[in-house]
Amino acid sequence: GQGMVAGDLVNTASRVQSVADPGTVLVGESTRRTTEQTVVYEEAGAFELKGKDGLVPLWKALRVVSGARGSLKSTGLEAPFVGRDRELRQIKDLFHASAEGRKAHLVSVTGIAGIGKSRLAWEFYKYFDGLPQLTYWHRGRCLAYGEGVTYWALADMVRMRCRIVEDEEPASALQKLSSTLEEHIADPEERRFVEPRVAQLLGLAEQEARDKHDLFAAWRLFFERLAETYPTVLAFEDMQWADESLLDFVEYRSNGHATPRST
Ligand SMILES: Nc1ncnc2c1ncn2[C@@H]1O[C@H](COP(=O)(O)OP(=O)(O)O)[C@@H](O)[C@H]1O
Ligand SMILES: [Mg+2]
Repeated sequence: GQGMVAGDLVNTASRVQSVADPGTVLVGESTRRTTEQTVVYEEAGAFELKGKDGLVPLWKALRVVSGARGSLKSTGLEAPFVGRDRELRQIKDLFHASAEGRKAHLVSVTGIAGIGKSRLAWEFYKYFDGLPQLTYWHRGRCLAYGEGVTYWALADMVRMRCRIVEDEEPASALQKLSSTLEEHIADPEERRFVEPRVAQLLGLAEQEARDKHDLFAAWRLFFERLAETYPTVLAFEDMQWADESLLDFVEYRSNGHATPRST
């Protein structure tokens, strides 16, 4: 039968459809962010959409490269990965050592733009995605501009785990956070410690004047509890834009669990 859906997402979708050429798929920022592990996009430009203020940036879907548990994998349109066997192997080895030894490892990947840092992270993703063992993967990009972006990459990772989309209603986002914590943190007292501090990271709670290390302890505990269930990876991209505070956190938490990071 035919279902009916309504709401802002649908309205936006029909507006987006009105500017897309036949046979192409255009998506907005939040869709791109939540699906970019699976679909390769290119910038399609900014468009005026009815009922939306200003120009809305859209992305064109080019191809699907990976599915859940590696079910789709690369369609072969991606240029083959060459000349980085050793680097990839090092990351794989550290990943397994980390998971088996229950100990965090910090991997820094540095090099000029275009050298292949993100690609290395992507190849690693495809590797563990194909393993029978589940892995909790988190990816966050450091932003080069704007206010309040200090912990953006980290907030992105938490949103990813909680399945919160970027422009989600606060009430619904808080609900998702709460149920994610219930799933992974058994101790209610620990949850009471972690929840307001992670909510603060996501901009969902009063920005209380908390000591940095008090916040860090809660954020770290969140990822540590995840890592007790499955191997946990945090991939920070574009660390050249990271400020001191985020770097502090990355160093602080890497005295705990697995953390390949690419810059
Ligand atoms: N080892 C490699 N083999 C084949 N293509 C690569 C390799 N490394 C990078 N590329 C390609 O080069 C481009 C730039 O790489 P990228 O990982 O985005 O660079 P960076 O993150 O260092 O700026 C991408 O299209 C990527 O797929
Ligand atoms: Mg990159």
